[in-house]
Amino acid sequence: MQIKTAKFVMSNSDVAKCPNSPLPEYAFIGRSNVGKSSLINMLTERKSLAKVSGKPGKTRLINHFLINESWHLVDLPGYGYAKVSKKEKKIFQKYITDYFRKRPQLVNTFLLVDIRHEPQPIDIEFMTWLGKNQIPFSIIFTKSDKLKSHQVENNIANYSTELMETWAELPPIFITSSSKKTGRDEVLNYIEQINQS
Ligand code: GTP
Ligand code: MG
Repeated sequence: MQIKTAKFVMSNSDVAKCPNSPLPEYAFIGRSNVGKSSLINMLTERKSLAKVSGKPGKTRLINHFLINESWHLVDLPGYGYAKVSKKEKKIFQKYITDYFRKRPQLVNTFLLVDIRHEPQPIDIEFMTWLGKNQIPFSIIFTKSDKLKSHQVENNIANYSTELMETWAELPPIFITSSSKKTGRDEVLNYIEQINQS
C-alpha cells in the first residue's frame, strides 16, 4: 500500500468523542516507550505525525489519523508506565479498555513488543484480555536494529514458545525497525489485505 495522505484528525480521552465515522480502524498499542509513535511515523513516512519522545509516557490520549481518506490509524497511550500515579493509571486503563470495547470500527490491533526483552507479564496479560474480548490482534516486534539477526531469531523463537503455552494458534508476527525502516511493506500490505477482504 502506498501512503498518499496522512492527516491528524483528533486527540481525546473519551471513546464517545472519537471520530463518528464508519471507516475501518487499526490501533497501535504496547508498553510505554516501545516505539508506537515512531512506528506510525515510519509507516506513514511522515517525520512527526505522531509525537516521539525518549521519555516514556509521551502519548497520553487516543490519537486518530486519517490515512488515504479511507482508514483510521490510532496511536494509543502506552501502558505499564511506572511513573504515573495509581489514580492516573486507573483513568488510562478505563479509557483504553473503553476504547477497545466500544469501537466496532476497530478491525485489528497491533500490539508492539520490544524485541530485546523476554515476554513481559503485562503484554501477555493484555493479549489474554484481547482474546477474551474477541479483539483480533497481531504482534509487531520493534527496535530490531538493536539486535543482531541471530538474536532476533532467537528472541522470536522464545516468544513464540511462550505464546504457544496459552494460544492454540500464533497471531501474525511482524519484525520492524523504525530507524532502519524495516517491516514497513509487510505491515502496510497486511492492512491493505484486510481492508480489501
Ligand atoms: P509513549 O508514547 O511514551 O508510550 O512511547 P512510544 O511507544 O510512542 O515510543 P516512541 O515512538 O516515542 O519511542 C520511544 C523511544 O524509542 C524514542 O527515543 C525513539 O527514538 C526510540 N525508538 C523507537 N523506535 C525505534 C527503533 O526502531 N529503533 C531504535 N533504535 N530506537 C527506536
Ligand atoms: Mg507515543
